[in-house]
Amino acid sequence: MGSEMCIRDSWKMLPENDTDGYHVNFTHRSFVEAIDSQYNDFVNEEETIEGVVIDWGMGHTEIDFSKGYKEPLKWLGVSESRVPEYVEAMKASYGEEEAMERLRVGPPHACIFPNLFLGEMNIVIFQPEAVGGCVQWHTPMLLKGAEQLNYRLLRQSEGAMGPASFLVADDATIAQLTQRTLEQGQPWCDLSRGMGREVEEPNGNLVSHMTDETNNRGFWKHYKKVMEG
Ligand SMILES: [Fe+2]
Repeated sequence: MGSEMCIRDSWKMLPENDTDGYHVNFTHRSFVEAIDSQYNDFVNEEETIEGVVIDWGMGHTEIDFSKGYKEPLKWLGVSESRVPEYVEAMKASYGEEEAMERLRVGPPHACIFPNLFLGEMNIVIFQPEAVGGCVQWHTPMLLKGAEQLNYRLLRQSEGAMGPASFLVADDATIAQLTQRTLEQGQPWCDLSRGMGREVEEPNGNLVSHMTDETNNRGFWKHYKKVMEG
């Protein structure tokens, strides 16, 4: 299961996009207005957005939506009544309290340098093809014996991933336009947003507001280090 999507841009546009929190409000505006999804609480006024971006170091980056999820399964876009067997199985495995917390926090939205994206329950790989071309491979991650959950994951994946979807098709369009712009001779992008409000945690992670470019700086800092040998 899964499919591919050919995009006329550098593969590096994909990790730049996937853990960027700023673009959701603009690039995905029509999606947000048409569909009630988990992203609806992460758009509009900056002060209302509770998600954060995290630069883990080594080029690995994440959008942590969990601070904005007030109820279990917001990331799945449904309530517990839609997947009761999965909820019961989680409680049996982890106990009531931990199970409900895990169901609230949800899976990661993270890029593992250089070319793996964990998009909640989708596994995505970026494959460079040429200077201005790449392929994005993606597949939903389904769980054995969890039919109710898998049904919902499949619907989410169809809605978000691939050229006929409502989400990644927007990203690919913008990435291709950005590639064309850069090829016209303007090689510089300003990635300074949020530099004054990043916080370094004891474990070395850099954390900032979801709309800051902390993750893009993290990706490019490590890319430069690797390319310089
Ligand atoms: Fe996007």
